[in-house]
Amino acid sequence: MSDWTKSGWRTKPRIQMPDYPDAEKLDEALAQLAKYPPLVFAGEARTLRDRLGAVGRGEAFLLQGGDCAESFAEFSADNLRDSFKVFLQMAMVLTFGAKVPVVKVGRVAGQMAKPRSARTEIRDGTELPSYRGDIINGFDFTREARISDPSRMLQAYTQAAASLNLLRAFSTGGFADMRRVHSWTLGFTDRDDAERYRGMANRIQDTLDFMAAAGITAATPHEFESVDFYTSHEALLLEYEEALTRIDSTSGQWLAGSGHMLWIGDRTREPDGAHVEFCRGVQNPIGLKCGPSLTTGHLKTLMAKLNPENEPGRLTLIARFGAGTVAAHLPRLIKAVREEGADVVWSCDPMHGNTIRSSSGYKTRPFDSVLREVREFFAVHQAEGTVPGGVHFEMTGRDVTECTGGVRAVTDEDLSDRYHTACDPRLNASQALELAFLVAEELTPRQSMQRAAAV
Ligand code: PEP
Ligand code: CO
Repeated sequence: MSDWTKSGWRTKPRIQMPDYPDAEKLDEALAQLAKYPPLVFAGEARTLRDRLGAVGRGEAFLLQGGDCAESFAEFSADNLRDSFKVFLQMAMVLTFGAKVPVVKVGRVAGQMAKPRSARTEIRDGTELPSYRGDIINGFDFTREARISDPSRMLQAYTQAAASLNLLRAFSTGGFADMRRVHSWTLGFTDRDDAERYRGMANRIQDTLDFMAAAGITAATPHEFESVDFYTSHEALLLEYEEALTRIDSTSGQWLAGSGHMLWIGDRTREPDGAHVEFCRGVQNPIGLKCGPSLTTGHLKTLMAKLNPENEPGRLTLIARFGAGTVAAHLPRLIKAVREEGADVVWSCDPMHGNTIRSSSGYKTRPFDSVLREVREFFAVHQAEGTVPGGVHFEMTGRDVTECTGGVRAVTDEDLSDRYHTACDPRLNASQALELAFLVAEELTPRQSMQRAAAV
């Protein structure tokens, strides 16, 4: 792309980004970051784009999820492992339940900058800058913590590198081996609500045992023993993104080295703004959050800017409208895509349009609304004859009480028990599994469901 440079975004209107009071410290941190190796490689991003191309054709399904905001405090091998376990369980439910290959993309190893609805936060008459994610400032409500500190970018990089290192080891080192399907169950989900998963895991085990007895195991060992797992985050803090952007010597194209896939948030998708400007020039697969305020005119402009060559898998539209409003918005966006002949992947984020303040004062999401939005997403695609390609969700492997409802029926009063999120409420492991079962049902063609019911 000849009219693009990695710093070109600096001339465009920027929103949701911090002001760094200490310019010298900022330059030092960015110079340091620019010397560090990229976290991901161009060939991986291209493979992901090809896989997403398959998702767009309905040949695979995109599972994208993880933390709302990764924090420095919650960073530990156990937390990463437990999230990864839930992710593997969800993927298995879809692969086995719906018989569809799953493209696995974590919100991890870089998901640390947050857009906020207000610039400042007021508590007991004191007004301080809002918390913007650990890569920018601190969560504590003190003047000192809330100052944007560029050295946090270096700590974020280190955390992302260590996370990715562990996730790569988990993906290929035997942990994700399908034959360990039972071992991904977390202690606290090992109750009635995990019954369904255990039933499925038994059937998978039986199938693998049968195949082993029939001598089939050795044919495609990679598929059994490892998974392809990719990383993603919102490309919000453009100083960080720019410093990790490098030329890929194989293709001569730019790659954002901070993660495999980047997305543009619902608040920063202004077609002439800094975030769109940055994302249009890197070859990574790009996601675009599509909320109720996205006009068809803007969507058309954004598709032309972000995917001018109309490459399959380059652009994923992540619909996040809120339960009850999908039918009012999704068909008009699908029509715009059709009118442009655009090749896109459609994914559903049933989290961000369903955030409410509970009676007990916590920010929460009713799990029923989450499930309802997923059903509505599938129903619209069914009616339009288009492909419901994936889901995008916020979850954690920790046994939290942040979203209400689910089989274990978290109530408004329960929220205070284990409410740990630094930002938005996440699904816990049981809720995440329940979501995966719902998606598997929605994906299973009606005839085979009827056939199964008839047997
Ligand atoms: C998010 O994904 O955490 C987020 C802030 O989403 P959105 O931009 O859709 O509001
Ligand atoms: Co969020």
